[in-house]
Amino acid sequence: MIQKLHGHSGCRLELIDNNGTIFVRKISRSVSYNERLIAQCVKQGIDDTEGFLTPKIFSKGYLKKLFYFDMEYINGLSFTDYLTNIPITSIERYADLFLKIIPSNPIYDGDARGIFINKVNELDSQIIVKSDSVKIAIQQLKHFDWKCIYQGKCHGDLTFENILIHNDRAYLIDFLDSFYDSWMIDISKLFQDLELQWSYRNYFSIDENLNIRLIILKKMLIEKLLQLDQGKNIVLTIYMMLILNLIRIIPYVDSQKDHLFIESALNKINILINKQL
Ligand SMILES: Nc1ncnc2c1ncn2[C@@H]1O[C@H](COP(=O)(O)OP(=O)(O)OP(=O)(O)O)[C@@H](O)[C@H]1O
Ligand SMILES: [Mg+2]
Repeated sequence: MIQKLHGHSGCRLELIDNNGTIFVRKISRSVSYNERLIAQCVKQGIDDTEGFLTPKIFSKGYLKKLFYFDMEYINGLSFTDYLTNIPITSIERYADLFLKIIPSNPIYDGDARGIFINKVNELDSQIIVKSDSVKIAIQQLKHFDWKCIYQGKCHGDLTFENILIHNDRAYLIDFLDSFYDSWMIDISKLFQDLELQWSYRNYFSIDENLNIRLIILKKMLIEKLLQLDQGKNIVLTIYMMLILNLIRIIPYVDSQKDHLFIESALNKINILINKQL
């Protein structure tokens, strides 16, 4: 092994040099997590998201009952770091790339409404201790009319940390199963970074250069989304999904710092929604 790589899911990631062939091995964090990592490996293997690549999977198996898979090493930067120094004139290229995940014929799903209402109710009963911001957020989710949801292929955790850039090509890693498959959930994860800087939460600070790029990319995405049929409803639903993402994280958060992050994120989105975005 050359180096350990770092993520947050608790899985082990190792950069391995096998007689000159370098690859990344991702190993499940526990036997009970095997199933999710297998699903991730399958999703990465079949993924053909328009405009994006995925690291090739070389092999898979078990080590001491823990599932693992070996994949191509992408010697690039995560989009988190890449965005800091990107020329302003290249930002639109990435806005267009991200919007390629929208199918050319978006499929409206009438059943989605019930699935989202159930998810919100499930979270409401799962989170026992609720701060005022969490209570307000859950009420907002309960009163929201989830009538504008389009289904479609979904990465499941499309944060900037899970997009790697190498030679100007974007690779997707760390696929996740989602309670519902919609490209709108993926876009809401992008907004988790654009609006709330989730992937930068452990950075010491965010400098002016990065800040301006985040703002430009966010504005471009919103403008382009608003041009879609039902654009305003789509943008509003994406922001409600962003609140839902934050509430879904709560049961897994163990540090005071991440709790504070979620509190201030919920307050910020609440203010934005009350101002009609
Ligand atoms: N194929 C790869 N090539 C290069 N770097 C990689 C590769 N796979 C993972 N990495 C690096 O390791 C980090 C963690 O990987 P990954 O996102 O799969 O882990 P994780 O523990 O599941 O994290 P998460 O909290 O996002 O679920 C990535 O952000 C990336 O920097
Ligand atoms: Mg990751």
